Amino acid sequence: MTERSAIWRSVAFLGLGLAWAAWAFAHGKDRWPVPAEAKNVKNPLPATEASLAAAKAIYLDNCEQCHGEKGKGDGSDAPLYSVKPADFTDTHMMEEMTDGEIFYKISEGRRPMPSFKKRLTEEQRWQLVNYVRTFAPKLEPAPKTVGASVTKKVLPHKHQ
Ligand code: HEC
Repeated sequence: MTERSAIWRSVAFLGLGLAWAAWAFAHGKDRWPVPAEAKNVKNPLPATEASLAAAKAIYLDNCEQCHGEKGKGDGSDAPLYSVKPADFTDTHMMEEMTDGEIFYKISEGRRPMPSFKKRLTEEQRWQLVNYVRTFAPKLEPAPKTVGASVTKKVLPHKHQ
């Protein structure tokens, strides 16, 4: 009898653990699941000056209230939500995302972010992909040799 209840208890524990893992996966901050085929979709649109200018207007109308004018995730509506709007100035986060992935996220949305599939055309969404890429400072190309540029970057932090 006791052995049996012990087994049931561990089964229940396992179940809880799995449920938690599933919940954490679905709601985890940095885990917005994107299907592999969506990630691999190539951006058909070059980031020309004209298309970036068009995208800016769309961005100011549809995205700025949450993501902020400079893309920092600090728009006027941002404090209303428990999930912080993405900060597009975060170079590492942006480098990790493919264009297809950004396009998918803009199209589908994820609460509180609305879906823009019906509100914006495909071309407008690709324009936005190129536009949100303009916020993050580019990573410096890796130095060919370990030289002055690396040392310079490390030094200022040493004495703080
Ligand atoms: C109502 C507020 C709101 C609006 C409007 C909004 N977003 Fe978002 N957006 C968010 C939030 C919140 C997240 C983070 C969601 C998450 O991680 O679960 C997000 C995430 C994103 C991401 C994913 C970044 C990542 O970390 O995976 C992209 C790309 C994005 N938004 C682009 C846009 C664009 C482009 C627009 C306008 C067409 C827009 N958003 C409009 C709130 C908003």
